[in-house]
Amino acid sequence: MVKFYITTPAYYPNNVPHLGHAYTTIITDALARWYRLSLGDKNVLFISGLDEHGEKIETTARDHKTQPQQFVDEMANKFEKTWQLLNISYNNFIRTSDKRHIKVVYDVYKKINASGDIYKGFYEDWYCVPCESFWTENQLTNNRCPDCNRDVKKLKEESYFFKLSKYQDKLLQLYKDNPNFISPASRKQEIINRIEEGLRDLSISRKHVKWGIPIPGDEEFTIYCWIDALSFYLSVLNYPQGHFKKFWPPDLQLMAKEILWFHAVILPALLMSAKIPLPKKIFAHGWLTVNGEKMSKSKGNFILPEAMVGTYGVDGFRYYLIKEIPFGEDGDFSEEALKARYNNELANDLGNLVSRVLTLAEKNFNKGIKKYPVEKGLAGKLNIDGVSKHMDELELHLALQGIMGFVKACNRHINNEKLWERKGDELEKHLYSLLEGIRITSLLLTPFIPESAGKINKQLGISSKSLKECKFGLVKKYNVKKEGILFKKVEGEKDVLVQNIPKLSVSPYLKKQGINVAAALITDAKVANRNSKLEGLKKDVADKILGGKIDNAKILNGYKEFYDKAGMKECVPAAENLIKLVKKGKKFPEINTIVDCYNLVSAETGLSLGANDMNFIKGGLVFRETRGDEKFIPLGEKNPVKINKNEYAFVDEEEVLCRMDIKQGDKTKITKNTKSFIIYAQGNKNVGLDYLQKALKKACILLEKVCGAKYQTLKVE
Ligand code: MSP
Repeated sequence: MVKFYITTPAYYPNNVPHLGHAYTTIITDALARWYRLSLGDKNVLFISGLDEHGEKIETTARDHKTQPQQFVDEMANKFEKTWQLLNISYNNFIRTSDKRHIKVVYDVYKKINASGDIYKGFYEDWYCVPCESFWTENQLTNNRCPDCNRDVKKLKEESYFFKLSKYQDKLLQLYKDNPNFISPASRKQEIINRIEEGLRDLSISRKHVKWGIPIPGDEEFTIYCWIDALSFYLSVLNYPQGHFKKFWPPDLQLMAKEILWFHAVILPALLMSAKIPLPKKIFAHGWLTVNGEKMSKSKGNFILPEAMVGTYGVDGFRYYLIKEIPFGEDGDFSEEALKARYNNELANDLGNLVSRVLTLAEKNFNKGIKKYPVEKGLAGKLNIDGVSKHMDELELHLALQGIMGFVKACNRHINNEKLWERKGDELEKHLYSLLEGIRITSLLLTPFIPESAGKINKQLGISSKSLKECKFGLVKKYNVKKEGILFKKVEGEKDVLVQNIPKLSVSPYLKKQGINVAAALITDAKVANRNSKLEGLKKDVADKILGGKIDNAKILNGYKEFYDKAGMKECVPAAENLIKLVKKGKKFPEINTIVDCYNLVSAETGLSLGANDMNFIKGGLVFRETRGDEKFIPLGEKNPVKINKNEYAFVDEEEVLCRMDIKQGDKTKITKNTKSFIIYAQGNKNVGLDYLQKALKKACILLEKVCGAKYQTLKVE
C-alpha cells in the first residue's frame, strides 16, 4: 500500500457535534495517524466535512429564526472547534455549501446523466422529514419511520430518478469480487439480502426544498441528498484535479451502521454510472448509547465532547472511546467507566510508569542513561506485530489492549526487580530497557493519545515519526527531563448513579405468591478473579455442604411449586443448581469476586440471589410473571431463548434479565468491568422478608470486604 485515503461521513450540522460524531471522527483520526506512522505523512489523506443541504437544515434554520447559510456557518464553526479540541488531524475538510463542492456535484450529475441513468417521473411514498427518507409501506414500523420512530407523511411529487435498479447485478458482483468491500462481514449479508429483494430506482430531486443545489437545466428542483452528499468524498479532493489524482479511491470509509446502505449501495452505483473508480473498503461501526439509552436532547443525555475533555482531558476521552467499545459493535457510554479507565489505565498504569522511571533516571544519572543490551524478558512482553495486525484488521481496542498490557508488564518489572533498591550499572541497564519500552509505547500510542505521547517524547528527549523506530536498542543515550503529571487522577463521586437508581417493584400477583425481593445498589466494586479471604470462606461453606451440615430443602421447595404453573417441572432453583455444582466439583465454582460473594450467601441460605450490571439496565426493574413473548438472552449466548408464560422474571424496559433458575442474563451480566450493580435476594412463600433482608445484607457486607464496594439498600415498591 503506497497511499491511504480515509474518510468520515459528512455530518449534518443541524445539531452541535456530540459523542456519536466524536466517536467516528476519533477512530478515523487514530487510523489516519497510524497510517502516517507507517506510510509517511505525505501518503495519507484524512478528510471530513459537513453535509449542509436539505430539508432538515432548512427547517432547523427556520426554527432558529435564521437563514440556512447563516445557520450552517455558525454550526460549521462549532464542528471545527470541536475537532480542534479533540486533536483531529484531518488534512481537508469541506462543507457541501462550498462553491468548490457545488461545482463537483454538477460535474458528477452530468456524468451520470450522460450514462443515460437519470429520468423524470413521479414518486409517491411515505416520507420522514427528520430523516429525509422515503419508506415503502412494508418498511414502516407501526406506521412510523423505522429509523427514528417518528410520524411519516405520504408524498407524491414529480422527481428526477437515478436508475439504481440497473446496478443490482453489478453491485452483487462487486461484493463477490471484493469480499472485504463491506465490513464487518456481519453487516454484509443484510445488504445483499436487501438488494436481492429488488432495487428500486432512486428519487434524486426535491421540488419543495429550496436549500440545495439546483438540478442542472431544471432549477425548479434541487438535488436531493445523495448525489450531493456523497460527492463530498470527491469534492474534498478537488476532483478531478488536486489530491484526487493521487488519493482516489478511498481506502477506508468509516461510518455508523445506519448509513451503510448509502455507502455500500448508492455510492458505488453512482460512481459506476459516472465511471469513477470505487472505494476499496467501507466499515460500519455500531451505535453508541448513553447509560443504555439512545442519546436525545429531551432525555438530557446528550454527551458533549467539551464536557468530557474538561474533566478527563482530550486523551482520556479518546482513549476511553477507543478502548471501551470493540470496534464495529454497539457500545454504551458511561462516565463512570470513563473515569475508571482514566484513573486506572492512564493515571495509574501509564502515568506512574513514566513518572517512576524518569524519577529514578533523573535522581541517579544526571549525566544521562547509556545504552545496554535490552532485557529480553521485558522486550518480549511487547508484541509489536500483534498490535500492527490488530490495526490492519480495525481491531483498535485490541491494539490498545496489547500496548497497555506491555505498560503493566513494565510496572511489574520495576516491582519484581525492586529497582528502587538498586544503584549504578545494575540500575542503569534496567532503566535503559524501560526507557526504550516507554519510547516504543509512546510511539505506538501516538495515534490514540497524541497529546500525551508528545509529552512523553518530550520528557524522553526524543521525537519519533515512524513505526520503523519500534525496535528496542535504537537510542544510544537518554537525557531525560521529568515534567508535570501526565494524567491527574479524577477524584470524587459523580452522582451519576444516585440519579439513576432504578425503580424496583414486584407485581401484585407475585407478591401474593410470596415472591418478595430485597435489593441493594452497589457502587465502586473492584472485581477480581479471586480473593484469598473469599477462597477461605468458600472452602468452609463447601465443606459444610459436603458434610451435609446445610439443609435448605424447605426453602428450595418453596420455589418449586411455582415452576408447575409455567410448565417447567424440570426447572431447578438457582441455589440448588449451585449446591449440586459444589457437590460435584467438591468446591465452589470460580467466576469472579462479585458472583462468588453472592453465590456463597445463596448456597448457605438456599435463597436465589442475583446481580445485574447497572450500566446496562434500561428503565425501571420489575419482578413479574411473564407473558411468554419477552426477549431473554442467557448468559454467554448471542441469541434469545423462548420464555414460557407465567414464569417469574426480573425484567427491565427491554428484556428479561434473569429467570427462575438462571440469575444472570447476558445483557447485564457481572464482568470484570462491572463497577456498579444491583444485587437482589428473591424469596418464596416459605421465606419471610426478614430472612431475605438479612441474607442480602450478608452479601453486601461480604462485597464491601472483598471488593471494596459501597452499598445502599433499595426500597422495593
Ligand atoms: N449527512 C449524513 C451522512 C452523509 S455521508 C456522505 C449523516 N449525517 S449525521 O450527522 O447523521 O452523521 C451520522 C454519522 O455520525 C454516523 O454514521 C456516525 O458516524 C456518527 N454518529 C452519530 N450518532 C452516533 C451514535 N449515536 N453512535 C455512533 N455513531 C453515531 O448521516
